[in-house]
Order: sequence, then structure tokens, then C-alpha cells
Amino acid sequence: MKGIVLAGGSGTRLHPITQAISKQLLPVYDKPMIYYPLSVLMLAGIREVLVISTPTDLPNFRRLLGDGSQFGLELSYAEQAAPNGLAEAFVIGADFVGDDDVALILGDNIFYGQGFSRTLQEQVSTLDGCVLFGYPVKDPQRYGVGEMDADGRLVSIEEKPERPRSNRAITGLYLYDNQVVEIAKGLTPSKRGELEITDVNMAYLRQDRARLVELSRGFAWLDTGTHDSLLEAAQFVQVLEHRTGVRIACLEEIALRMGFITADECYQLGAKLAKSGYGDYVMDVAMAAGASG
Ligand code: G1P
Repeated sequence: MKGIVLAGGSGTRLHPITQAISKQLLPVYDKPMIYYPLSVLMLAGIREVLVISTPTDLPNFRRLLGDGSQFGLELSYAEQAAPNGLAEAFVIGADFVGDDDVALILGDNIFYGQGFSRTLQEQVSTLDGCVLFGYPVKDPQRYGVGEMDADGRLVSIEEKPERPRSNRAITGLYLYDNQVVEIAKGLTPSKRGELEITDVNMAYLRQDRARLVELSRGFAWLDTGTHDSLLEAAQFVQVLEHRTGVRIACLEEIALRMGFITADECYQLGAKLAKSGYGDYVMDVAMAAGASG
């Protein structure tokens, strides 16, 4: 399976912060926002990732992440010239996806919870059609909303409904088989002129090939779309990291644990960041895993 991180948009709800920098490069406590979605793809075992952003912001993502080889990844980059919707990612990324299955994750979505990587790997290995992830929220009208029947089958999906049929938001992580490229290419733009991801999901639902996996209580799916939610997300990460001493979405550590890089390679990555506590952490993790230091 391949992965796409969509990091476009103009971040208008975060102005003036995002007037000169991409939202997905803003810090969420100790690391850039895009580390969080990238870590999710890595935990799913995905190593070939396409980063899509605006023509202005793309060079900055390249500067931050390079070709990905430091994390044992193959990163490539593509432009989304205008905010034409999330589903355009599959049109832009059609060649990159090739004949593979693909996971799409939005560059501003933060997921955290026990057992998440196991859930992801199970879903990736048993994928048939499309898998969405649902999360209970108090303001479902702001999101795509999924409705389940008594047997846990997904029966309806609506984009930002005025009267939501459930409180299950559809999160910004989507797993698709290869048909998604054809579906995305065949979409007509919505009223707001965008290729909507919800229309892709509806196409799978009509074929009875869309499933919704519930992320339960105790799981955190965090929003970063407003000044308050961005600060709250950073505080959430800070509290957990301080309490446990374990960093969330540390790409170097995940690359090591997934077997993408060796302990010595991990140590070297930490050494380059040695002046920050983050770098010290990466070196410690590498030493504990047997790096020669
Ligand atoms: C998009 C999707 C929506 C989904 C949300 C998750 O909304 O259209 O279905 O629930 O991402 O973050 P947007 O954030 O583009 O308004």
C-alpha cells in the first residue's frame, strides 16, 4: 500500500499565523504538524509516501523531509495548484499510486491511542474496498458523518450535514483499494467547486464496499484547525510526553521500531538534532536499541 499526505489549503481559520507558512508545518508542541500524519502512515507499514501541497509551500516540505531515506522511506512530492478538494489527491497522485492500494491522510489530523498501529496494520492487510475511521465528536456538523445500523454496518455518509444522523465524524484517514483513482477521476465538482472525498466514500458505499472502523473512547483524534484547538493539541502532546517520557510521532523512533532504519542510523539522526531535547530523546532511544553511539 502507498500513502498520500495531503497538506494543501490556505489555513484561513489560522490567519495571520498561516499567511507566510503552511499550516501543516506549524509546531504541535515539539515537532511540525506533518510529523503526526506521517507517523500514522509509517505505523501502518507504509514506506512510499507522496506529499501534496501548494506550489508555494511544497519547497518547505521538501526542505524538512527530503527524500525520506533518513527514515527508511521513499518520499515524493506533488503540487495541488488550487484548493480543488481532497479527492483531487488521487488524480494528482494517479501515477504514484499505480496499481496499488492507497492510504490518504490529511496533513492536519492527529491520531493517538493504544493499539492504533495494530488496528491500522489489520485494516491494511484485510482491505476490500474502502475503510474509514469514525470518532465521536460533539460537533459532527463540522465533518463528514457516518451512520451505522444495529449490526455495525455503515449505512449513510453525509458531508457537513445540518442535522447529523449520528455523532460519528469521519476522520481524515482513508484506506482505499486501487479503484479509488478511477472513482476520483470520474467525480464532478461539488457546489463549492471541489472534488469531495465524501463523494468517493459514497461511491464505495453504493457498492457496499465501505466500512467504518470506530475509534473508541480513550482514543484521541485531535483538531488543529483553530487557534484554540491548535494550542490544545500541543498541550495534549506536552502533557503525555512529560508524564510518560515517551514522545508521540517521533519519526526517527518509529522508523527504528518498524525496522526501517538501524539503531546506529537512528543515533546519527538524533545527533544532528542534539541541541534540542528531541534530539537527545532520539539518541537515548537508539542507545537503548543497541546503537554503538
Ligand atoms: C474534511 C472532509 C470531512 C472530514 C474532515 C476530517 O473536511 O471533507 O469529511 O470529516 O476533513 O478532518 P475539511 O477539514 O476539509 O473541512
